[in-house]
Amino acid sequence: MNKFDVIIIGGGLAGLRAGIELSGNAKVAMLTKVYPMRSHSSAAEGGVNAALGNRGDNKEDNVYTHTYDTVKGSDYLADQDAAEILCKEGIDRVYEMEHWGVPFSRTEEGKIAQRPFGGGSYARACYASDKTGHALLETMYERSLKENLFVFNEYMVLKLVVKDGYVHGVVALSLRTGEVEGFIAKTIIIATGGLGRIYSFTTNAHINTGFGNAIAYWAGVTLKDSEFIQFHPTGLPTTGILITEGVRGEGGILKNRLGERFMEKYVSMKPPELAPRDIVARSMMIEINEGRGFPDMGGYLHLDVTHLDPEIVKKRLSQIRELTISFMGIDPLKKPIPVRPVQHYSMGGIGTDIDGATNIKGIYAAGEAACVSVHGANRLGANSLLETLVFGRRAGVAALNYVRNERFNPSESYVNSAVVEIKSKIKGLFNKKNGGTESTKIMHELQQTMDKYVGIFRNQIGLERGIEIIADLKKRFEKVGVSSKGTTYNLELIRVLELEGMLDIAEVIAKGALARTETRGAHFRTDHKERDDTNWLKHTIAEYTPDGPRFSYQPVLIGKYKPQKRVY
Ligand code: FUM
Repeated sequence: MNKFDVIIIGGGLAGLRAGIELSGNAKVAMLTKVYPMRSHSSAAEGGVNAALGNRGDNKEDNVYTHTYDTVKGSDYLADQDAAEILCKEGIDRVYEMEHWGVPFSRTEEGKIAQRPFGGGSYARACYASDKTGHALLETMYERSLKENLFVFNEYMVLKLVVKDGYVHGVVALSLRTGEVEGFIAKTIIIATGGLGRIYSFTTNAHINTGFGNAIAYWAGVTLKDSEFIQFHPTGLPTTGILITEGVRGEGGILKNRLGERFMEKYVSMKPPELAPRDIVARSMMIEINEGRGFPDMGGYLHLDVTHLDPEIVKKRLSQIRELTISFMGIDPLKKPIPVRPVQHYSMGGIGTDIDGATNIKGIYAAGEAACVSVHGANRLGANSLLETLVFGRRAGVAALNYVRNERFNPSESYVNSAVVEIKSKIKGLFNKKNGGTESTKIMHELQQTMDKYVGIFRNQIGLERGIEIIADLKKRFEKVGVSSKGTTYNLELIRVLELEGMLDIAEVIAKGALARTETRGAHFRTDHKERDDTNWLKHTIAEYTPDGPRFSYQPVLIGKYKPQKRVY
């Protein structure tokens, strides 16, 4: 059987950064559903925050202004020790990436260029044109090739083997061969990214089904703050393709059908388009819902860059120009870009401490799959790439300490039994009748339900209806089988396995949202419009039970920044 010290699940930025930290000191395997260069980190566009002060107008920026912006942006739900670590260590991590070879865009002096992003008091998003995630991932991946990582490409982990309070390894399906294999390790790092595909209109890739969160949840790892889902203000209508916040950072203006710069009505800051994402997305939906949007394609607004120097668009926003031409037939140099808010990110996830440790010994998490929590109720744009670098590394450091200091040997027989269990589960799916299109139908219904009832605006009646539909879908899922019997890249099997997780995670999100009777950050309750610090300044913790999530609550770590009314 495959035996390692550490198994990293996921080959994106957080997983690779953890792997680089561990390599040479421990025997490390990386199990990744897609080749690392296909991971969703590559889709991040506009930038990675760090208070470098590289422009004339941002010299005053520092760790504390960045931390304050992050905490205020989070609507005071972020743990302030974690937010400060993010902003402090983030500076070193960004320089490290520069030294490893990231082709950052440059100032005239040759320093890393920075642009404004939403909710930031200074221009602090370091960028590589509008392909920042891609540039970081390419460099990180190349750097990882120097390391002694055992990479298992196209392996989907189906189970974490947890017994007696410890993790012993994982069971994974080779997507290429259809083999189910056991891997022994006393330490696991989950870095599987986001869950956007639980929604139908999302910027996320098809791989982002939240399955890493599901296998952790099933194994007894608690999830934190899952109800906080981010909607990015600017996706292309119909496809959901991300149009970076960097467009607004470079001076792009949002306009409604009447040609009004409507964000001026909602915030007093300048420019108003650079309010945090929760506020901009909500304001846009109000414009659309009240009839001031363009009616077709589900409703949309305009993001206008026609007034900008075309050279800036060509140089700093080349990808979004290309995407808008390819997918909408519109050249942003000549006409405004049609945009609509779109599911983008999960602030919550696998609950961890500041070192990535979860409630189960030996299991760590980092990146979007994790909730440290640095983003609280609303993440600032360009803090997500930063989180992968800072907390990917920290999880690697902590995992190594655990490997070295924890005198415990994982059990091969536990892993073997789990392999038998998973093989029989898959056999069971092949033997059931209800294969074919039923799983796709359930998935689509789930996605529509989440869009409709667990979206930007939420209320008790809608959430209860959403939860009822999810319960029905779970019942239907019990009868679902897999009709395609192939072993090589059996997409139907993968879909059915993932769907089980999507249903459970959707239930956690919806039930957590119903329970939280307040408005905070991206969680906007039309029936509870105010933030309620007396009752709800606390983290939601969800624990798996066969009857659905059991919720408890934990205090938020407040430091220097006392909760205040959040005004922009
Ligand atoms: O708008 C963007 O470029 C997205 C960045 C992010 O989500 O951090």
